[in-house]
Amino acid sequence: MDLRGKKILITAGPTHEKIDPVRFIGNYSTGKMGFELARVAISLGAELYLVAGPVWLDTPKGCVRRVDVVSAAEMYEASLALFPDMDIAIMCAAVADFTPIEVATTKRKRAAEDLILHLRPTQDIAAALGEIKRQSQLLVGFALESDHEMDHAQQKLVKKNLDAIVLNSLRNEGTCFGSDYNQITLLTRNGAPIDFQKKPKQEVAIDIMTQLMTLLG
Ligand code: CTP
Repeated sequence: MDLRGKKILITAGPTHEKIDPVRFIGNYSTGKMGFELARVAISLGAELYLVAGPVWLDTPKGCVRRVDVVSAAEMYEASLALFPDMDIAIMCAAVADFTPIEVATTKRKRAAEDLILHLRPTQDIAAALGEIKRQSQLLVGFALESDHEMDHAQQKLVKKNLDAIVLNSLRNEGTCFGSDYNQITLLTRNGAPIDFQKKPKQEVAIDIMTQLMTLLG
């Protein structure tokens, strides 16, 4: 079984939410997991569309289109535009949950008082895709949790109308952000959760794509 003829969208990396011309709110995501997934999907014959936040990674060879974005709002626009044409979408990006309401047009100066930034929630890209998802499309999310991992991941699976969710726990040392390793549990709508060993992200990507192919049927 392979992914020939299948169009796959993968979001990867962090987003940066601008505070002023020289500063942003970001996170530690490097995009490695998403780019490994992209490589494996391409090797299985998929037509791969990548929406990448600010990362320092080369475009996987054979990628049909890479859209580079900076903010959560830009990632939302790019993902929504591509999704209707896709067979599978994997939301691997660590999207900022909040963004500054006002972006200063000039560099904020140091001051004696505390600086208070007002942030508003970003749009949930995975949930937006979940709302317009067709029966034939597979939508996959990621969940990075620090506590009550299974419960939280299960809730996200349902709330965002996902078909599967890849759970990463912050309690697993030497995995997640920046690491070359990951330890995941895959939750689906019907089957029992599947636990995987800690392994290089490249092998984790193979595990994930193999499971998704069984979901495609
Ligand atoms: N996600 C998204 N858009 C957002 C935030 C998250 O598409 N604005 C996606 C992520 O790419 C991931 C999934 O939703 O696939 C879960 O992300 P996570 O940050 O764990 O969940 P949140 O819904 O943001 O919940 P919380 O941060 O409160 O745990």
